[in-house]
Amino acid sequence: MNDLLQLFNESPDKYVSGEELSRKLKCSRTAVWKRINQLRKKGYLFEAVPNKGYRLLQTPERIDADALTASLATKVFGKTIRSFAEVDSTQSVAHQLAAQGAGEGTLVIAERQTAGRGRMGRTWFSPEGKGIWMSLLLQPKIPLARTPQLTLLTAVAVCRAIRRIGQVDAAIKWPNDILIDGKKVCGILLESVAEKERVRYVIAGIGISANFQSSDYPEDLRPIATSLLIASGKAVNRSALIAEVLAELEKLYGLYLQEGFAPIRTLWETLTVSLHRRVRINTAGGSAEGWAFAIDEAGALCMRMDNGETVRYFSGEIALA
Ligand code: BTN
Repeated sequence: MNDLLQLFNESPDKYVSGEELSRKLKCSRTAVWKRINQLRKKGYLFEAVPNKGYRLLQTPERIDADALTASLATKVFGKTIRSFAEVDSTQSVAHQLAAQGAGEGTLVIAERQTAGRGRMGRTWFSPEGKGIWMSLLLQPKIPLARTPQLTLLTAVAVCRAIRRIGQVDAAIKWPNDILIDGKKVCGILLESVAEKERVRYVIAGIGISANFQSSDYPEDLRPIATSLLIASGKAVNRSALIAEVLAELEKLYGLYLQEGFAPIRTLWETLTVSLHRRVRINTAGGSAEGWAFAIDEAGALCMRMDNGETVRYFSGEIALA
């Protein structure tokens, strides 16, 4: 165990002075302070009181895969869990498992990702212990052209779970960002592998900023990102949130396979902040402005452009115009 943490564990609930720590660890008080800050970044909570020292208030909650499996209300999703302290990306691990024959509902979770992937080729900030970084393997028997519908389905499931467990007013920004008070709390990345236009499998990657404090974010993310802790003032139990996301996903996925996209589309429309307003859309092909007025039966965003033309978008990013 980390020798600094060992000293705190020897004196539970007591203050340990900076001087004592520096003497026992044979390092300067500045070095002690730096190490305390490193642990804070990993989710340890310390109180620092002048003339008394430091007190360890909370150690980070770990996601225990066995306990999580036991708590699941699902029949298939998450019944096989592969959990890691660190991976490059849970997406990559899930792709490897799928190629090796893993079954539908296999879940990959990690405490930390060193190369988390975001949409549109971006990286995804995935520090240790405070977020949910997970990828779920799906094997729907659908044509590749229908996968945008699964993107919207995943957003509905995660948004409902975040609302219930986080007790916050979360909403969907097209196609599948989850926002609280206009700031992003969750990103979703669906990657599909197909053969002759039929889906072989889909990896649904979900990244939720659960227990971040604003100081945990790099400066450039602070104005646009939030967490459930920041929004509600309460730390969320990550395992409970994962269990709820899986329950919602399994329920909506079953509904989708039985009844098609119509009921999912209705739910998406009730949770979104992106319709019936003027937006600017950025895609690989450039950017344009128009009135976002609907999601169609294929899952495309329908926009009326300034020249009167209606354009359907399957991917991209929007901002209020
Ligand atoms: C986005 O850009 O909004 C999508 C972010 C998706 C992040 C999640 S975290 C778990 C999974 N593994 C990854 O590398 N990315 C997804």
